[in-house]
Amino acid sequence: MSDYDEIRARIRALCEGETDEVALMATVACELHHSDERFDWTGFYRVVAPELLKIGPYQGGHGCLVIPFSRGVCGACARSGEVQLVDDVDAFPGHIACSSSTRSEIVLPVFGAGGRLIGVLDIDSDRPAAFDAGDAEALAGILADVFGHL
Ligand code: SME
Repeated sequence: MSDYDEIRARIRALCEGETDEVALMATVACELHHSDERFDWTGFYRVVAPELLKIGPYQGGHGCLVIPFSRGVCGACARSGEVQLVDDVDAFPGHIACSSSTRSEIVLPVFGAGGRLIGVLDIDSDRPAAFDAGDAEALAGILADVFGHL
């Protein structure tokens, strides 16, 4: 389990004063990915056109490049603006499998100022049911710190 207070403080310090979205995403993906053994793929998909996500900075094996809002867990998150906690990816209709080792995942919306949807944060785990509401709350806090004013 992550010490989210420590990670949050470190990410805040590293991102202080930066406003470039990709620079911030790269820093957050790196810091989160190396902080927790449950995280096997950690990265962002960015809203680049109406109803369309494209890959952003990530850590782990390759991720698919394009995800329409209509597809997968990331699409469901972008569509609804709500956190998706998936205990078993095989039971999620339309899950996009980029790695056959992925068993569970959490996807959070990334909002900028005024609730603008910037993209989503996708964390995949090779363990089943790796994430819970505590992860969702802590990760949402980190995302709000870093992106909420953009
Ligand atoms: N979590 C995804 C796809 C996996 S990635 O491309 C790393 C989904 O939205 O189904």
